[in-house]
Amino acid sequence: MKTLEITPKEYVKKAIEPKKFDANVIDYYDDAGPDYEAWSKAYNMHFGYYKWGMNPFNREAMLNKMTEQVYGKLGLDKNNKNIIADFGCGVGTSLRHMVKKYKRSYLYGITIVLTQILKGNRLTKKQGVNNRVFMWQFDYANTPFMSNSVDGVVAIESSCYAEGKDKAPVLNEMYRVLKPGHSVAIADCFVKQNDMSKNLKRLYKRICKGWAVEDFAHLEEFVSHMNTIGFKNIKIEEVSWRIAPSVMHVPWVSLKFLLKQLFEKNNPMNKHRWNNVISPLLSILLGMHRKTIGYYLISAKK
Ligand SMILES: C[S@@+](CC[C@H](N)C(=O)[O-])C[C@H]1O[C@@H](n2cnc3c(N)ncnc32)[C@H](O)[C@@H]1O
Repeated sequence: MKTLEITPKEYVKKAIEPKKFDANVIDYYDDAGPDYEAWSKAYNMHFGYYKWGMNPFNREAMLNKMTEQVYGKLGLDKNNKNIIADFGCGVGTSLRHMVKKYKRSYLYGITIVLTQILKGNRLTKKQGVNNRVFMWQFDYANTPFMSNSVDGVVAIESSCYAEGKDKAPVLNEMYRVLKPGHSVAIADCFVKQNDMSKNLKRLYKRICKGWAVEDFAHLEEFVSHMNTIGFKNIKIEEVSWRIAPSVMHVPWVSLKFLLKQLFEKNNPMNKHRWNNVISPLLSILLGMHRKTIGYYLISAKK
């Protein structure tokens, strides 16, 4: 089964070449990435998905449920030998969670942040799944997968980092690598309406800056680009209320984190670490503007 355009040996050569990745994103995750432990013991870097009957105080369960929802949209048979690509995989938490469910599949995570790969590889090895979970340092707009080779692509709160309102570079790459008839599933925050008041725009820009995001995807442009490049069966589901219970954990987690930080002498707060406290808090305010912004699950077939 040949899935990658390059051999592991070539990959290593390519990976150590200096990259023109977005330094701001890398610096942000290098500095603030470890702080995600306060949010999730397993380093989930996304909001949770609440389903009726779940305990809304169990944050980790809601975070894992979000991952399961996104992977579920791929519609893959868990007993098959699938190749699944996770574009913008963080430290690979979703990969390690889902590899237990897709028992014969191979899961590839793509991130531009080397420190995430080093940490992710340690956790993957510790969990004993390093024969089926791999993390690669590539731009998700230019991956080493062969065209038409991947059974499913997911992106959880990561497509927002791509360029433009329509996030065309990452959508194009998702489409290229997918096998015909196979699906992509994306979870992220989307701008529904561009005409924000001056104050709302300031709030929005402050949140973007804090998370090292240029601009979140704009729903209309994003979906229109999916249509243009040939995605079919596009399903758009607003799940803002589903993430609300996990968003409500933010103030408490931030307070606990800052109190702990008061006694931390060796790891002082810096710009990125402060931003990672401020942006989630401000996002509670932004999230109230339901006409302007929303959290969506979007899936489509090639
Ligand atoms: C908010 S984190 C989400 C991580 C993971 N999906 C999760 O939910 O735990 C965003 C991720 O997108 C990655 N990312 C940002 N820009 C990228 C790019 N151009 N190519 C690949 N990954 C990128 C970051 O490195 C980070 O791992």
